Amino acid sequence: MALPSQVSPPQVALSDVAPSAVVGADAVAVPVLAAEPGAEGAAGDTESSGVTLGPGAAELVDELGEDLFALLDVANATGKVGEVVERAVLDAGGLANPDLRLVLLVGVGDGSPDSLRRAGAALARAVKGRSTVATSLAALSDDAGLRALVEGLVLGSYEFHWRSEGPLKQPVQRVVLAGMGDPKGRKPALDRALAVAGASWISRTLALVPANEKTPEWLADQAAEVADRAGLKVSVWDEKKLAAEGFGGIVGVGQASANPPRLVRLDYKPRKGARNAPHVVLVGKGITFDTGGLSIKPKEAMAPMKRDMTGAGVVLAVMGALADVDCPVRVTGLLPLAENSVSGNALRPGDVIQHYGGRTSEVTNTDAEGRLVMADALAYAVAELSPDVLVDVATLTGAMKIALGQRTGGFFATDDALASSLRAASLAAGEPLWRMPLVADYEDRLASPVADADNAPKGPGGAIHAALFLKHFTGGLPWAHLDVASVGDSPVDELEYTKGATGFGSRALLHWLELREPLDGVVPAGKSG
Ligand code: BES
Ligand code: MN
Ligand code: ZN
Repeated sequence: MALPSQVSPPQVALSDVAPSAVVGADAVAVPVLAAEPGAEGAAGDTESSGVTLGPGAAELVDELGEDLFALLDVANATGKVGEVVERAVLDAGGLANPDLRLVLLVGVGDGSPDSLRRAGAALARAVKGRSTVATSLAALSDDAGLRALVEGLVLGSYEFHWRSEGPLKQPVQRVVLAGMGDPKGRKPALDRALAVAGASWISRTLALVPANEKTPEWLADQAAEVADRAGLKVSVWDEKKLAAEGFGGIVGVGQASANPPRLVRLDYKPRKGARNAPHVVLVGKGITFDTGGLSIKPKEAMAPMKRDMTGAGVVLAVMGALADVDCPVRVTGLLPLAENSVSGNALRPGDVIQHYGGRTSEVTNTDAEGRLVMADALAYAVAELSPDVLVDVATLTGAMKIALGQRTGGFFATDDALASSLRAASLAAGEPLWRMPLVADYEDRLASPVADADNAPKGPGGAIHAALFLKHFTGGLPWAHLDVASVGDSPVDELEYTKGATGFGSRALLHWLELREPLDGVVPAGKSG
C-alpha cells in the first residue's frame, strides 16, 4: 500500500500586462481595498461606497463593459481580508482573453503583508480546479507583500489525500501575478516565496502522512531523498548504532515499537565562505506516533499523534530549502526519530535511562518522551558539532497549547539577540512565536531521587519544565527551543491553513536563516556576563 501521488503547488509567474490581458487565464482576480476611515468618496473612477477597486480593475471594466461597483454593492462588499465576490463571464468571445470564465474581486483589507497572505489563501481556495488565474493582487505591494501573497496562494492551494479516486480538488495549475511594473526585478522575491512556501508544504505533508506508513525508517528515507535533491550530506543511525553509541533516550523511547528508531543528520554548507561561517544546529522532535507509552494517552488525545514528528518534518523541510534562500551559515539538522509505543518491552514508569554523553533521566511518565529523544540529539550536537547556536523544534507539551492557544507558537531562548531575531522572523513569516520564560526557580522541580532529572515534573508550568529539562543538554550554548504543540494542528480550513497539520515553524526558521547575519548580536558561549 503506497502513498498515492499528491497534488502539486501552482506554478507562479510574473507579468507586466493587466490581468484581463493575460491570454489563457480562465480566472481573473483584482483587489478590493477596504476604504480608510474618512476617505469615502475620495477620488477616482474606481471608488464606490467606501471600497476601492485596485489595479487591473479599470482594464477589466473596459473589457467586460460591466459595472463592477454595482457588483460590489449588491454583494455588500467591504473589502475585508478573505472576502471574495465572484462573477461568471458568460460570453468572453470578443475579449482580449477569450478563455476568461470567472472574475473575482478579492478583499485585501489594509494591504499589509499579513492581509495579502490571507487574501492569497482565500483566492487559492476560490480558484481550485481551474487552470490559470491572472491577478493584480501583488501589483501595489513591495517584496514583503509579494512574498506573503505568494505564500498564501501556495499554502491555500494545499491538500493531502489518500483517496482511491484521487484528491478532492486540484490546486489552480498556474498563477500569473499581473500588472507588475518590473517583473524581472521581482523575480528574486518570488523565488524566495516559492522556496519558503514549498518547505511549508513539505513539512505539512510529512506531518499528515499516517503513522502506518510513516515509520522512523520511512522518515529517514524521506530525509535521504531531500538531501539528495538539495545536495546535502546525510547520515543515518539505525537502532544498533544508536545503542552502541549510547543514545539511551532515542533507544528507550523507541524500544517498544516494531518500527525501530533512527537518528538522521543532514549537513548544509553555504556556497560562499563556508570555512568561517557560523554553525547552527537544528534539532526536530520526530515521534512518528505518540501513544504515550505505558503512561498511555486517552483516545481523544492520542488520535492526532501521527503529527508528533512535526519538529523533525520542519527541520527536514528547512534543510532542503537553505540553498534556495541562500542561507549564509552552516547548518546541521538532527532528526531523532522514534515511535512511542506499548509492548512487553516498553519503557516503564520508574525506569532510568542514560542519554548520549552520560546524563541520566528517571522516566516517571513515558508520555514525556519528546524531551528524552531531544536530549540525546542536543547532547550529540554539543559534543560532536561545536555549534555556535542550537535551535530545536518540538511538539513538546500540551501545556503550551493551553498557554497560547492554536495560532501562536511558544519559544524559549537563552540569548536575547537570538530571541528577537526569531521573533521578528516569525512575524514576517506569518508564523508568530511568543517568548516564554526559563524560570530558574522551577529548576528544583526536575529533581529525581535516583537520577540526574525526573522527565515529568508535577504541577503547573509544564512547558517551562520541559524547556528546563532540555537546557541541561545544551552545554551553555546560545539556544532557542520552539514548542509548537499549540500550533501543529489547525482546527479548520482558515487563513493559509488547511484543516489538520500546519507544518508550523518552517517558514519562521527560513525567514531567520535567510538573513545576511542570522546570528547578529548573539553572545558566544562562555562570553556572557
Ligand atoms: N506529544 C505530546 C505533546 C502534545 C500535546 C503535542 C498535544 C501536541 C498536542 C507530548 O509527548 C506529551 O505527551 N507531553 C505530555 C508531557 C507530560 C506527560 C509531562 C503533556 O503535555 O501532557
Ligand atoms: Mn507524549
Ligand atoms: Zn510526544
